[in-house]
Amino acid sequence: MTVCEYRPGLEDIPAAQSSISHVDGQKGILEYRGIRIEELAEKSTFLETAFLLIWGYLPNRHELAAFQSEVLNSRRIKYRIRDMMKCFPESGHPMDALQASAAALGLFYSRRDLHNPIYIRDSVVRLMATIPTMVAAFQLMRKGDDPVKPRDDLGYSANFLYMLNEKEPDPLAARIFDVCLILHVEHSMNASTFSARVTASTLTDPYAVVASAVGTLAGPLHGGANEEVIEMLEKIGSVENVRPFVEDALHRKAKIMGFGHRVYKVKDPRATILQNLAVQLFDKFGYDKYYEIAVELERVMAEKVGNKGIYPNVDFYSGLVYRKMGIPTDLFTPIFAIARVAGWLAHWKEQLAENRIFRPTQVYNGEHGVAYTPINQR
Ligand code: ACO
Repeated sequence: MTVCEYRPGLEDIPAAQSSISHVDGQKGILEYRGIRIEELAEKSTFLETAFLLIWGYLPNRHELAAFQSEVLNSRRIKYRIRDMMKCFPESGHPMDALQASAAALGLFYSRRDLHNPIYIRDSVVRLMATIPTMVAAFQLMRKGDDPVKPRDDLGYSANFLYMLNEKEPDPLAARIFDVCLILHVEHSMNASTFSARVTASTLTDPYAVVASAVGTLAGPLHGGANEEVIEMLEKIGSVENVRPFVEDALHRKAKIMGFGHRVYKVKDPRATILQNLAVQLFDKFGYDKYYEIAVELERVMAEKVGNKGIYPNVDFYSGLVYRKMGIPTDLFTPIFAIARVAGWLAHWKEQLAENRIFRPTQVYNGEHGVAYTPINQR
């Protein structure tokens, strides 16, 4: 075996063989199971896309209806999970609440039967169905309200928005939200997916797999960037302030949130779709001054660092969409997780099919043969 050089961040080192999604970062192409993201965003639904990713093919009418009804009928969470969530501090971040709740689910479903397709299917359905309910429940409980029960007549995305805002969403907003979930569901070997696969490779349960991936997604260099984009746009405050803001940040070598990607060296195709969705929302529900600031920021960044391949990523416009829907900023990353759980589960299933526990190596650069110093001599 050839010994590879150490590459910080494992850049360009394959960690798995996968047929789930493909990213061409030079051409700005993203495909799920070979289908272009633009086509799925236009024609598919989140649950159909999740089925495609997890089971590897587009479901027929009967299969899709069965999957939808299983998910829709599994959305309620146990009283004891709700009671546990009530004890969480209301000042805590919803991603931490979600990570703890996802892990707690494993306490209730501790049987582990990883070779049984029914166990796999039940776990997929349970996690996909209950994670939105847990996100919405924590949001209401931290305000001192009781969680809202899921509504059986509403689809996946419409029901989530209903549970969050206690009112039925506008159909355009519900469809746009569903498309946002399609855009966030999967993205090859990113940090949280890698984390999910490493955890899966130990043959632990899928709740631990999802909990570890949620913890990884939470960081500001990954899913957490969408929250920081909104905070940054608010701080910039006006179109005139964009250029001095960018110049100052680049001078300090500070990262501008929502820009740059390990793989994309052109504009992320999901950012282009999200920008169009944002415009549709503004056309129907009114203009947002932060959109103009964002467009100017994109323009100035292209001028200053476009030659380095730094363009908007998925997180740049998603916050503007969620903000227009009245969603609090600290729920943006949990919403990312609601979508991405299906991608993580697709990788969990793929990892199990040809599992070998992850056990990379390291380049040791410490000392050898060091004498032990007794405590009274240190
Ligand atoms: N703003 C300014 N400069 C940037 C940015 C940015 N957002 N991103 C990269 N650069 C510059 C770096 O300063 C560096 O410049 P240098 O070569 O002159 O030193 C060069 O581009 C390479 O940057 P790295 O950080 O080494 O690139 P890496 O591939 O490790 O990081 C990452 C990718 C983490 C996404 C980075 O671009 C970043 O921190 N972006 C901001 C956070 C963000 O938006 N994260 C969301 C990513 S999408 C997702 O996870 C869902």
